[in-house]
Amino acid sequence: MTDDSDRDGIGTPVTEPIPIRVRERDGSESTIEVEPGTVLRDALRDAGFEVYGSVSRHANCGGRGICATCGVRVAPDPEPDHWHDAAAARFGYPRLSCRIIVSEPMTVELLEKRLWGQLLPRRSEDA
Ligand code: FES
Repeated sequence: MTDDSDRDGIGTPVTEPIPIRVRERDGSESTIEVEPGTVLRDALRDAGFEVYGSVSRHANCGGRGICATCGVRVAPDPEPDHWHDAAAARFGYPRLSCRIIVSEPMTVELLEKRLWGQLLPRRSEDA
């Protein structure tokens, strides 16, 4: 006997939206509902959250896993399937949100971008 609780009347798998808790840079939290299989970066941006810094918002790789500017903290840590993301997971760096496919509830922390991708204040000696 099969369990049909995850299928509709014609055998199509029923996909329930997955709750993603988002912790913003100011500490505020909210929850968004995301379709399973959605790229985390896209889900966050579609919901109005910014994963990039002020420069990388305009100059990024478009989710190809190349620029490393879309990092977020996630819990629980999904299994990495990309070399950079595997290194990030191993050494505790932020994970690439463009390399994470949403498949289970998680908490995401948006980060201050202090490396590249961040506009730094102009120093007086630079003027
Ligand atoms: S958007 Fe470039 S690595 Fe994720």
